[in-house]
Amino acid sequence: MKKHELPSVLGSISPQEFMRDYWQKKPLLIRQAIPGMQALLSRKDLFAMASNPDVESRLVSGNGDSQPWRMQHGPFKPRALPPLSRPHWTLLVQGVDLHVEAFAQLRDRFRFIPDARLDDVMVSYASDGGGVGPHFDSYDVFLLQAHGQRRWRISAQKNLQLRDDVPLKILSQFKPSKTMLLEPGDMLYLPPHYAHEGVAVGECMTYSIGFRAPEMRELAAELLSRMTDMDNAMAPVRYRDAGQAMAVKPAQIPATLQAFAMQSVQSLLTQSRQLQVALGEVLTEPKAEVWFATQNCPRNLQSVRLNAKTRMLYDDQYVFINGESWRCQGADARSLKLLANERSLSGLDSLSPQLGALLRDWVQAGWLHSS
Ligand code: SIN
Ligand code: CO
Repeated sequence: MKKHELPSVLGSISPQEFMRDYWQKKPLLIRQAIPGMQALLSRKDLFAMASNPDVESRLVSGNGDSQPWRMQHGPFKPRALPPLSRPHWTLLVQGVDLHVEAFAQLRDRFRFIPDARLDDVMVSYASDGGGVGPHFDSYDVFLLQAHGQRRWRISAQKNLQLRDDVPLKILSQFKPSKTMLLEPGDMLYLPPHYAHEGVAVGECMTYSIGFRAPEMRELAAELLSRMTDMDNAMAPVRYRDAGQAMAVKPAQIPATLQAFAMQSVQSLLTQSRQLQVALGEVLTEPKAEVWFATQNCPRNLQSVRLNAKTRMLYDDQYVFINGESWRCQGADARSLKLLANERSLSGLDSLSPQLGALLRDWVQAGWLHSS
């Protein structure tokens, strides 16, 4: 079975219906999205991950009532975590899909959404009554109940003002309109900016499959920075002012210099090809804490699969992998696009020598595994 043909996680709703009626629009509760759901990671293994400095983790405690909200950043030695019998605490571990293959496979079941939108899979463990308070997220999220029960309260409220007296994002006012108790295998989809609060009923574990959406200002900053680093996006032209008259008001910025500044940005914007290359590179750039271990490449490389940490996308002329771009066409482009879509590729002995050498480089860099 091809990876994008794995059993649906949307119950009786087809991916087409989901994208048309719910995605970015309204919440959806899917009972038994994964029937017979078993946790993919034990509590002990999750705690061990939270002690790894390469893994982003947070500990939230409190209930906003008898206990004030508190937040600490990891890594946490397991014995530094509160006792399991203490209520109202939550451990949140980001990017679990980058480290545990079973979570990469879970993530692959959501590939009816473009890879370019994927952020990561976060796992939370909560003691009884634990939660992160009423809040909203900027991302689309699927909240999959993996173990135990969690009570979710959600609200379509427009008032998203946050409290400024607590160390985490908590809504000043939360007026829930719907309450639902999720059991293992149940899943709740929430679009961005939808107010919600999940509270553990007994100890529980929840998996958040999160989808990022670029913010225009941040994206512009990243694209322009990348484009100015490209040799072919802009010729080095220095401002000249041979016609400058004697300065009468020396502190005033000359109008010709203002026009030069405008021209410098405008000239970048005419480079639409380079802008698309920069976009592919930005979208596949691994997060700061991600690193790849170099490895030996077998002499006789038959097939490869992407490392779970590898981000690979393409457009009509370029293939992007982990923040780098390759222009390619013809049979090589078709093979690389297949690798990106399937996250694996076999029959490598029929590839061009150039593509074979490139794939060997990527294996050595740890971006691909030989399989
Ligand atoms: C959690 O898993 O505790 C928090 C998830 C969320 O509310 O986004
Ligand atoms: Co949330």
